[in-house]
Amino acid sequence: MLIGQFPTAQFQKIETPFYYYDMDILRNTLEEIKRRAADAYMQVHYAVKACATPEIMREIAAYGFGADCVNGEEIKAALAAGFPAHKIVFAGVGKTDREIRLALEHNIFSFNVESLPELEVINELAGEMGQTAPVCLRINPNVNAHTHQYITTGLNENKFGINMEEAVAVANRCLQLPNIHLIGLHFHIGSQITDMEPFQTLCVRVNQIMEEMEQAGLSLSHINVGGGLGVNYEHPNHLSIPDFENYFNVFRHGLNLREGQTLHFELGRSMVAQCGNLITRVLYVKQGAHKKFIIVDAGMSDLIRPALYQAFHRIENLTSDREEEIYDVVGPICESSDVFVKDFAVSGAQRGDLLALRSAGAYGEIMASGYNLRRLPGHITSDDIKKND
Ligand code: LLP
Repeated sequence: MLIGQFPTAQFQKIETPFYYYDMDILRNTLEEIKRRAADAYMQVHYAVKACATPEIMREIAAYGFGADCVNGEEIKAALAAGFPAHKIVFAGVGKTDREIRLALEHNIFSFNVESLPELEVINELAGEMGQTAPVCLRINPNVNAHTHQYITTGLNENKFGINMEEAVAVANRCLQLPNIHLIGLHFHIGSQITDMEPFQTLCVRVNQIMEEMEQAGLSLSHINVGGGLGVNYEHPNHLSIPDFENYFNVFRHGLNLREGQTLHFELGRSMVAQCGNLITRVLYVKQGAHKKFIIVDAGMSDLIRPALYQAFHRIENLTSDREEEIYDVVGPICESSDVFVKDFAVSGAQRGDLLALRSAGAYGEIMASGYNLRRLPGHITSDDIKKND
């Protein structure tokens, strides 16, 4: 049986749980980003941390986007997927010497530097290699993103970035370091942000700090405002493409960019969340003292977002058109937090049914672990399925 866009008959042949990526949704999303960020001064990078599945990365690279990497492994994966080194930015509070050397060897576009000690180390290593490191300073703008506390990054209490008060001093230090070339500033305030107000506040802070830098005689060619645009987890079917128009307009109108400046974005979730689904099979339906449980073969090791952030993923029963019932959908792992959703209406379930956990393309497969010695989930794309038809 085929419900919605899912090739359920083909799913029956695949061992569950696995991730299913709908490449048409991905392509529509990428087209929309290209259309809405078409200005020559805008450059969009894909935040690899959201999903490093090769098929997904290759598609995004083929569209001409850059890559935002947080360590050496992500840099290697980005290069292998076809992202050119000159479009790779490298962020992260704890870059190791090996990773810094790797990035220098490949001549990446920029290091997003998060502290003065890191800056000094990059200068030293670049000097040893006879190179100059291009650097954007990551500034912590102290903007409340009004999102889950674990995915807020731009507050003074967070470990990320250089604080606003120190920014000019660190920028001046860049000028004294012989192997550092300061090219710009970087910001990122958090993730799953659906209200535009935090981004507007970010624009105000960025304008303010650009003024301060200018007054100190520092010129900057690149402004990187990070990522963070949220997706609609409640309605993945009719709102599968995030509001990129509004998002890019906030920065287009809110920033006082100078002549010749380039504006960079690092989008993760908004690029890939809606194209991915975790497909799982119902093992048992059990009547508890007060509620009914659907026990599935996927667990928090396959998709940790509900357990870690109390995140909601819509669940659909792909093989049932029985009347809906209210269930808790839970995994097999020995943790009380191994629950995908509580008190949720799903079409009447029975052993063997296939369920889809929607909007799981971002921070889904990539965050899977081997807890309980479980196997990592596999994946398949709609292109693979078309090929085998
Ligand atoms: N740039 C930087 C510096 C970041 O730290 C992040 C995400 C991004 C860009 C991409 O942000 P996005 O566009 O995806 O919001 N595992 C969490 C999300 C962690 C986000 C970490 N940083 C989750 O599952 O919700």
